[in-house]
Amino acid sequence: MTGTERPTERLQDDGTGMTRAAAILAAGGLVAFPTETVYGLGADARREDAVAAIYAAKSRPRFNPLIVHVADLAAAERIALFDERARRLARAFWPGPLTLVLPLRNDAGLAPMVSAGRGSVALRVPAHRVARALLAAFGGPVAAPSANPSGRISPTRADHVLEGLGGRIDAVLDGGACPVGLESTIVSLDGPARLLRPGAITADEIATCLGQPLAERTGAAGTAPEAPGQLASHYAPDAALRLNVMSPAPGEIFIGFGAIGGDLNLSPSGDLAEAAANLFALLREADRRAAQAGASQPSAGTRRGIAIAPIPNRGIGKAINDRLQRAAAPRDPITAGAG
Ligand code: TXA
Ligand code: MG
Repeated sequence: MTGTERPTERLQDDGTGMTRAAAILAAGGLVAFPTETVYGLGADARREDAVAAIYAAKSRPRFNPLIVHVADLAAAERIALFDERARRLARAFWPGPLTLVLPLRNDAGLAPMVSAGRGSVALRVPAHRVARALLAAFGGPVAAPSANPSGRISPTRADHVLEGLGGRIDAVLDGGACPVGLESTIVSLDGPARLLRPGAITADEIATCLGQPLAERTGAAGTAPEAPGQLASHYAPDAALRLNVMSPAPGEIFIGFGAIGGDLNLSPSGDLAEAAANLFALLREADRRAAQAGASQPSAGTRRGIAIAPIPNRGIGKAINDRLQRAAAPRDPITAGAG
C-alpha cells in the first residue's frame, strides 16, 4: 500500500482520526503526525517493508538512519542500552525535543533498515499530545524521520506535509502548527557524549545535566558526518538564500528579525523561540514568493533570491543558525538531501 501514487487521507485530531491512523500503522502503512518539533513520517519500526516505504516516499538515501519514537523510558530501554548518563538525560528531558543515540540491543526487534545497519539507534519520547496519543493507540515503536522529501525544508503544518509528500503516503494526522518548529537536539552517548544536531534543548543544558562538557561535533569538511543526515546542504528552499543581511539587494525577498523589518518577520519582538517556531513556514512562504516573482518576470531568467537578517547565536538561536547555514550551503547533488 505504499510506494505508488495514491490519495493521502487528511485525518482530524479526534478519536476517529486517531483510530484510523493507528490502523494504517498496524497495516504497515505510512502516517505523518505532529510532534512538538516538526511533523514526522511514521511507520512500524519493527517491519522492514514499512520502514523501506519511508525511505521510498522521501527518496531518502538508505545510509541515513531513522529516529524511533516510543511512549516512555521503559519502552526505550527495551530497544537500546541505557547507562547512567542516558537515564539522567531521559529523566530530565523526556518527553521532549531530545533524541539520544545509544547502543542498539540485540533483542530490540527493530527492522535493521531503521538504523541503517548500525550498532546504534536514535530514540526519542515526544511530548506532543497527538504524537503521544498515536503511540498509545498503536502500542509499538514508530520510526519517523521528518515528513519532507529528503533534503527539503521540514514540515511544521499538515499542509506542508501534503505539499511535499501528498500522493506518496497514506495519511497525515492534522494537529496544527508544531510549537518548537526545529528538529530535536541529537546527543550521541555511543561513546563520549557528543552533540550531533543542535536544537531547542541546548548543548549547555545537556552539559549541565551531565555535569561535563560535550565533545566537539565532528562533520567538518572532509570528515564523515557523525549523524549521516547532518550534511552541509539540507533544509533547502529552491531559491538561493543569503544570510546575515542588514539590507537586501533589489528584488530579494527579505526575512527580518526583531527591529530589522523585512517583507516577512520571524519575530517582531525579537523572541528566538518564536523565530524558531516560524522559521520553516516563513522560508516556505519566501520560496513561494520567489517562485511567483520568477514566473512573472520570465525574461529575467533567474528566480529571485531570499535574504535573511542576522539571528543572535545564543540559546535556540544556535539551532536556527545551524539550519540556515545548511539551507544556504551549495547544493551538492550527491550529498544533498539526506534527511
Ligand atoms: O525532531 C525530530 O527529531 C524529528 C521528529 C519527527 O521527531 N525527526 C527528525 O528525523 O528530524 P530526521 O530523520 O529528519 O533526522 C534524524 C537525524 C538524521 O540526521 C540521522 O542521520 C540521525 O538523526 N540519526 C538517526 N539514527 C542515527 C544513529 N544511529 N546514529 C547517528 N545519527 C543518527
Ligand atoms: Mg529530516
